[in-house]
Amino acid sequence: MMKVLITAGPTREAIDPARFISNYSSGKMGYALANACAHSEFEVLLISGPTQLEVPINCDYIPVESAQEMYEAVEKHIHDVDVAIFSAAVADYTYASPAAQKIKKYGDTLIIELEKTKDILGSARVEFDFKGILIGFAAETENLLDNARIKLEKKGCDLIVANDILRKDSGFNVDHNQAYLVTSTGHQELPLLSKKALALAIIQWVQAH
Ligand code: CTP
Repeated sequence: MMKVLITAGPTREAIDPARFISNYSSGKMGYALANACAHSEFEVLLISGPTQLEVPINCDYIPVESAQEMYEAVEKHIHDVDVAIFSAAVADYTYASPAAQKIKKYGDTLIIELEKTKDILGSARVEFDFKGILIGFAAETENLLDNARIKLEKKGCDLIVANDILRKDSGFNVDHNQAYLVTSTGHQELPLLSKKALALAIIQWVQAH
């Protein structure tokens, strides 16, 4: 049985015990993938930030909050799998020193300095020495295909699933996605699909690979 690791959902970067920085990711794409993989005879490990979704049946599940926690969970488990699909919307920046107490409202402005998180997908080949099939997502607002090709190469992916997040009917928080499958040899434009159908298209690509 093929084993697949899937990252999903947003991450939360704590500012103080009451607040965090996050993004609009619902986790729907990653959970659709986990569901479809579990129904396609894959052994699934889902590593997910906080979502409103139910964990699909027959998936192993590791809940995480921050980008750093997601990084550590992936680092620990990626060696066990044949395929790794990174659909999480990982925070690119985090607050380095979250306050132990709730930050009080003193001045008229509050400046918070953020520092870069580790690129989990970008660590797969080099830091984790992962040799399996590596799939990333590219959420873009401009130059979709060019940016996707750059990510494919830079992060050592076999496939990038690229989508334009400015489209209202596609991407963040909706049930559909219009995506391009980008590989080193070219790209395939898919129609607007349900996330379930897109998940099946990605699995088909893996099985044909
Ligand atoms: N990703 C990740 N770890 C991060 C940031 C991103 O694993 N710290 C993964 C995402 O899960 C996705 C891919 O990298 O599969 C692309 O993420 P994206 O945010 O679009 O790209 P970035 O590398 O952050 O590049 P940029 O912000 O320049 O677009």
